[in-house]
Amino acid sequence: MLVRQQGSALVVHTPAKLNLFLEILGKRPDGFHELETLMVTVGLYDTLRFTEDDSSASPSRSASAVSAANLPSDIHLSCCWAGPPEFSPGPIPTGRDNLVVRAAELLREVTGTRRGVSIELTKRIPMAAGLAGGSSDCAATLFALNRLWKLGLPDQRLLELAAQLGSDIAFFLTRTSAAVCRGRGEIIEPVAAPMRLHFVIAKPASGLSTAAVFRQCRPAASPRSAQPLVDSLCRGRLSVAARQLHNALQPPAEQLNPDVVRLRRTFSRLPFLGHQMSGSGTSYFGLCSQLDQARALAAQVRSAGCDDVFVASTQP
Ligand code: C5P
Repeated sequence: MLVRQQGSALVVHTPAKLNLFLEILGKRPDGFHELETLMVTVGLYDTLRFTEDDSSASPSRSASAVSAANLPSDIHLSCCWAGPPEFSPGPIPTGRDNLVVRAAELLREVTGTRRGVSIELTKRIPMAAGLAGGSSDCAATLFALNRLWKLGLPDQRLLELAAQLGSDIAFFLTRTSAAVCRGRGEIIEPVAAPMRLHFVIAKPASGLSTAAVFRQCRPAASPRSAQPLVDSLCRGRLSVAARQLHNALQPPAEQLNPDVVRLRRTFSRLPFLGHQMSGSGTSYFGLCSQLDQARALAAQVRSAGCDDVFVASTQP
């Protein structure tokens, strides 16, 4: 997450993630699944611009506006798509079904602040894609409003609020570029992943609901650990690491969505070091040793008929 003050506004660039490893350890009494996952951020960013909105709290207004001073200011969200126009997801929610608004409301609820905010969200991260764009936007909102509204909440409290809003959000709040995440995904252990990794990412037109994919999955009989993959990445053993990629959500996603099967077949025919689906899908990625190779393979994935294909790398 990159944060920059721009006049009175705060601008945050917040990244997408890929899951290089995801194992299902068990089903919990609360309905969630216990998991172990290795997440890395990649250089594809949504941008959020936060401007404090104190219009209803100004003292030098007409009588009707003064009475409005007793009301909380508003949370205004506007969204636009800045990815390739042909892959526009259509209207992006700007109400409570957007985690950005829910994060702002939760902060007001737990702190009692009456401050308002205008948020301009510029989306580039595909949605319903297993790239956690919504979670990343939500983490950016918790972080930025804590600062803009001068709430002074400690990191630990922000992490608790993140976990309340969703399983992937805490990862982005820690502002680490790689972490093994456990529990529902909200217990974060940052790891050193010094090697730069280059990926070709393909997003089919269809998406998948995270809840639907988890409903379809079964906990592993003999669960695998993320540690061997973490060790390989730390030691710079890229081709060993490529063989240790794993996503236990891929088989259920393939049962639900034939586009994921098509992507696996396309990627299998090309010389990627390794490939798999990210998170609960539907994005699919291939690992490459060099950026040039990733660009060349992206062109081949496109000519194999996949539409939304791009190259992204991990950030140092
Ligand atoms: O936490 P998040 O809102 O991202 O989760 C969406 C849905 O995915 C949950 O409602 C739950 O059904 C499922 N899920 C799960 N186990 C997890 C994370 C998510 O079953 N660890």
